[in-house]
Amino acid sequence: MRILLTGGAGYIGSHTALTLLLNGYDVTVLDNFSNSSPEAIARVEELTGREIRLFEGDCTDPDDLERALQGDPVSAAIHFAGLKAVGESVSKPLAYYGNNLGATIRLTEALLRHNVPALVFSSSATVYGASGKMPLSEEAPRGDCTNPYGWTKWMSEQILTDVTRANPDFRVVLLRYFNPVGAHESGRIGEDPAGVPNNLMPYICQVAAGRREWLSVYGNDYDTHDGTGVRDYIHVCDLAEGHLAAVGYALTHKGTEIFNLGTGKGYSVLDMVRTFALTNEVDVPYRIVGRRPGDVATCYADPTKARRLLGWRARRSLDDMCRDAWNWQKHNPMGYRDSR
Ligand code: NAD
Ligand code: UFG
Repeated sequence: MRILLTGGAGYIGSHTALTLLLNGYDVTVLDNFSNSSPEAIARVEELTGREIRLFEGDCTDPDDLERALQGDPVSAAIHFAGLKAVGESVSKPLAYYGNNLGATIRLTEALLRHNVPALVFSSSATVYGASGKMPLSEEAPRGDCTNPYGWTKWMSEQILTDVTRANPDFRVVLLRYFNPVGAHESGRIGEDPAGVPNNLMPYICQVAAGRREWLSVYGNDYDTHDGTGVRDYIHVCDLAEGHLAAVGYALTHKGTEIFNLGTGKGYSVLDMVRTFALTNEVDVPYRIVGRRPGDVATCYADPTKARRLLGWRARRSLDDMCRDAWNWQKHNPMGYRDSR
């Protein structure tokens, strides 16, 4: 059974491709490499001993989608392709709406044209907005997003829900990720941010590696156990296994279903710094600075629905996340720009 992964060369897509291949699925990837490298695909092939049908192309382009869908029939798609830098989305809203909504709409049209019955979509906990009571269950109301990136997830969820209403044979699973971190234990694939990392874990890795002097901790006056922001960090390999379960679910259940993919546990910024330093026996210098606009104090999942209906739960610990993130960083200090 063949699965199309848009954005499959990216951080979460490459780990999911690996998991799908190891579980007997065939994989097609369509990626424009705007935030990734074909090297990630080569490494997944090397780790699995399996071949990926790789198409360089854009998900907003119907011709590129046609090329990827012709030939071997596809049974389902996982839609990772999208721009994801929150700050950049504020300064370039049209680029974000154009790319992220354009990709969702053009892909869905192509899937319907080719009678591909199932789609799994990369959504985000960001759609809950700032108002929610913790832990966040899937029934928590969606809130106002603080940036265009978040709105593209919110709107893509709405578009896909409306499409399943109009096309009862089309099935959609919306996956709301919490905070994906870590890397495959081989250290061959991982997160490869361009420029200065926006997210906490890649920033910690670069500080530990000496590429940056210290970590700015954004605020220590939140209403949390140590005053710093609390998030639900989830190992990217657990997340990949969540996609495996979600594909199986989408193929067998009609309508739209939403699942949180998180661990249900919240850790603060300082918990992360200390665990990373202890697990890897490295220094992570930091300074407390002002709050980052748009951040919430606390965000963690109620993951019980995914456990009940998908039979999936996150198994890897915070130590595993910190160890595997550092293993990737150590062996690939410049990401995929390093030679093989
Ligand atoms: P990533 O940037 O590593 O992967 C996205 C991939 O999509 C990249 O390979 C990029 O080149 C490709 N791409 C972008 N626009 C494209 C287009 N128009 N056509 C073809 N390819 C295109 O990001 P990721 O962390 O792997 O995230 C995957 C998905 O999960 C994204 O949709 C992201 O918004 C969502 N998500 C990520 C996080 C996170 O913290 N990493 C959290 C919640 C949701
Ligand atoms: N933080 C720092 N210093 C940094 C980076 C982050 O203190 O240099 C703090 C933040 O203030 C926050 C925590 O670390 O308290 C986590 O921040 P991230 O930027 O790693 O993650 P966010 O929770 O802000 O956002 C992430 C993704 C979004 C996604 C959201 C929910 O970046 O795309 O999770 O899934 F929408």
